[in-house]
Amino acid sequence: MAERLEEIAARLMTQRKGLLAADESTGTAKKRLAAAGVTSTEETRRDSREMLFRAEEAMTDYISGVILYDETIRQKAADGTPLVELITRAGALAGIKVDEGAVPLALHPGETVTEGLDGLRERLAEYHGLGARFAKWRAAISISDVLPSRACVRANNRALARYAALCQEAGLVPIVEPEVLMDGDPGTHSIERCAEVSEAVQRDLFEALVEAGVTLEQTILKPNMVIDGAKARRASVEEVAEMTVRTFRRTVPTAIAGIAFLSGGQSSEEATAHLNAMKSGFDLPWPLTFSYSRALQEDALKAWAGKSDNVAAGQRAFVHRSRMNSLAERGEWNR
Ligand code: 13P
Repeated sequence: MAERLEEIAARLMTQRKGLLAADESTGTAKKRLAAAGVTSTEETRRDSREMLFRAEEAMTDYISGVILYDETIRQKAADGTPLVELITRAGALAGIKVDEGAVPLALHPGETVTEGLDGLRERLAEYHGLGARFAKWRAAISISDVLPSRACVRANNRALARYAALCQEAGLVPIVEPEVLMDGDPGTHSIERCAEVSEAVQRDLFEALVEAGVTLEQTILKPNMVIDGAKARRASVEEVAEMTVRTFRRTVPTAIAGIAFLSGGQSSEEATAHLNAMKSGFDLPWPLTFSYSRALQEDALKAWAGKSDNVAAGQRAFVHRSRMNSLAERGEWNR
């Protein structure tokens, strides 16, 4: 089992490839589809994902794994083929988001804790049976001059550690996602503040993982980049790359199977440029790639706009973004 989990993690971190996060909950999918002028129904959610998973060049050459949502992992394409099969036929791995979302943390206004541990052992066994080989759990950490609280960081990281241990027990590679949100107020969310908070969060996360007995070689970290608040971005691409690499060098053990970034509301091109700057400018001690949702899907959903006549245009947009991020993964992207 140990060897197999390391193999799965290594496949996810294959050079020139990265992950597609297609695990938006029904609520989030509604927002993303609305932005593309599409009404969210079970069918349009399926159609949008089928469009992506059938984009052959992207799925075969640039995508190593796809993170699915509970509804999606059970869905079939219009012709009856399970969506999981579309993914595995292209040579990619199917994964599953298993947290049940962030709820307000009691006595801590403005902060959340991610839930979903109850019954998780049984759910993981079921997802494994449905074809999942890896999983994801996201904690959301708000940032300001006073947040996050120690209580919030510790509660979220202990849940991440318990989830990761359950995954390894069930034969799934855990992706641990301690997301320091990128939408903080520019007055209180400078790149330096983001570095300070990201460093503290990650340091505590690895302590929790080790304490829970989690094998780092079988674990992938999905972090935010170190960046200033989106409302008044001042940091240059080089600065973001340098601060991100500096922070992770301080906190992320080289034993980890890899780091796969979330895009967190950056524009598609920003997310590509930042990854490229890290890969081209630094000698990195861990495999590093992308695990984007918005930065891979946004252009494709807009081009598609819910119309079957536009499926090819949507797929072209997805192939393009995937290819750009694959180039960035090699540090070979040019604007
Ligand atoms: P974004 O790339 O849109 O941040 O989404 C990644 C993800 O999986 C968030 O949990």
